[in-house]
Amino acid sequence: MSTARRSAAEAYEKTPTRIFPNSATAAKELAAEVRALIEERAKQGKNVVLGMATGSTPVPFYRELIRLHKEEGLSFKNVVTFNLDEYYGLGADHPESYARFMADQIFDHIDIPKANINIPSGKVSSDQVFAHCREYEEKIDAMGGIDLQILGIGRTGHIGFNEPGSSRDSLTRRITLDRVTRQDAAADFRGEENVPHFAITMGVGTILRGKKLVLMAWGDNKAEMVAKAVEGPMTEAISASFLQGHPNARFYIDTGASRELTRAKLPWLVGPVSWTPRETRRAVCWLGNQLHKPVLKLTDEHYNEHGLGDLLSEQGPAYQLNIRIFNQLQHTITGWPGGKPNEADTYRPERANPYPKRCLVLSPEPQDAVVSMGATLERLAEQGHDARLISLTSGNLRVPDSEADKFAETLKELAGIVSDSSVWAPQTAYAEQALKMLADKGEFGADTPLLRQLKALILRGELRDAANACHLTNDHIVFLDLPFYEEGRYRRFKSTQADVDALAALLREHKPHQIYATGDAADPSSVSGICFKVLEAALKACEGEDWAGSCSLWLYRGKEKPLEGHEIDMAIPLSPSQLERKGRALSRYGALSSLERASPESNRQNAANYDALGLAQYEAIETFQRWRRV
Ligand code: GLP
Repeated sequence: MSTARRSAAEAYEKTPTRIFPNSATAAKELAAEVRALIEERAKQGKNVVLGMATGSTPVPFYRELIRLHKEEGLSFKNVVTFNLDEYYGLGADHPESYARFMADQIFDHIDIPKANINIPSGKVSSDQVFAHCREYEEKIDAMGGIDLQILGIGRTGHIGFNEPGSSRDSLTRRITLDRVTRQDAAADFRGEENVPHFAITMGVGTILRGKKLVLMAWGDNKAEMVAKAVEGPMTEAISASFLQGHPNARFYIDTGASRELTRAKLPWLVGPVSWTPRETRRAVCWLGNQLHKPVLKLTDEHYNEHGLGDLLSEQGPAYQLNIRIFNQLQHTITGWPGGKPNEADTYRPERANPYPKRCLVLSPEPQDAVVSMGATLERLAEQGHDARLISLTSGNLRVPDSEADKFAETLKELAGIVSDSSVWAPQTAYAEQALKMLADKGEFGADTPLLRQLKALILRGELRDAANACHLTNDHIVFLDLPFYEEGRYRRFKSTQADVDALAALLREHKPHQIYATGDAADPSSVSGICFKVLEAALKACEGEDWAGSCSLWLYRGKEKPLEGHEIDMAIPLSPSQLERKGRALSRYGALSSLERASPESNRQNAANYDALGLAQYEAIETFQRWRRV
């Protein structure tokens, strides 16, 4: 692919970037390119050397390669692979080792000769690390270098495990993982404390020796880093930015991951814009933020001087445009998420009737909804709606062994103090079995079904506790335990029709007037991303049913980037005491990530953003976007 800029819109992008509607389309295209390369080399009797990556990002690409092998006969006999990295300290049989990941996600499903697979060893002794890394480099060169290197990007902007500070010329070596990277891997390892501290990774220099580089990124969470890597300066602080200096590197991203690029975020700076209501609001909010001015104080000159003359001539003068946008923002604010009964609702986000409403609040994992919309949940319940909290998955993979151990020990002890011990014999046996399974599997072994179930029950208790704190009674909490989660692991879940059927059955049973959901902006392989796809399919299955036509759909943001001013359609203000209660509800969860714990802070930030635009000052705000189905 040429590095020449193809359009004005890409003027800011220093590494060529393609935005695909979704990861599946991008993966398909890349897989077709790889297929052509493999077949061309096979004809010449030559090998292809591929650089492989791990994480959820390449999973759709690997699934497409497997499909090409199984359904279209693509052979990988002439393929040699080099993986980017491996956790130091983990053996190939460890469930979270990259060796195991690669076996599960691709190598065991294609005909690549085992001898052609190269992955740094996580088990090489400390005094051998240097030699091991040097041999890895030499082997890459001996094989003729990497023809095509697949890359993902971590939250620190790393490629491979080249954390901030990695130099442009760095080679394969052992590195210390950044705190942020370890936080991101916490769910995989059931707690940050279990995440290895070190890894062996190809260096930036090793990667840049590859002939072609393709960095993939999906979902909102990657947007900020993608923009910095593509548009910012080349810097050791973001190793992905070094792709800018490579003659044949490109980014393949989806719309979620493109959101912070100039062409997506500030389109008026790079070309003509069709001024839809959303784009108009985006421009006005941006201008206000840029100038630290409330919307009503923006002038014609401000618009003109900041590249918005076009908008002004179409919708100005500033005075009128400002008032219109101010009113729109004002109308997003309501204390009545389920609609205000017996009141005019023309300018309210939610309709007044019917009242009360049946509201389903979908939480991908047990903590998500309370974290993101705990105060709104409380309002729905308080205002007399039939609000149900649906935990879509059990979340059991998040629960540390220590919790299961604590529960089993308590059960055993309890059984021990009952006077007639024979009555509690089954409980004692259960507790002992659980304790033995915990001991047998060691620190990182896979949980048995009994342990996964026990952990799920522990989380159920936490969710009930947190939901009660939001004034929901136990009979309004539903545990759906979608099968994709029960059968999978983080970064490699796969949903099936069984998931869609389970959710469709729940929707049909409750016939909701309102649904709250999340995951639209998430990495499609994450739990919330999969749950969102399952919801889309379930709603499609219910199309035409009476309730479905009039059901309103509201999106909240979980772990992804918070909604911005122009994206918010409903803003639920929180008083200081409501925010305090939300904090108390959150404290009922045993294992929240630091990001989840920071949710009240992010609610405060939402309020500060509204305040800055000139709206009323609130303590905190929970935000929602209307989901317009296409
Ligand atoms: C790890 C890997 C990277 C990967 C990153 C992002 O840090 N070493 O190669 O790009 O995770 O992971 P994911 O694709 O799951 O977002």
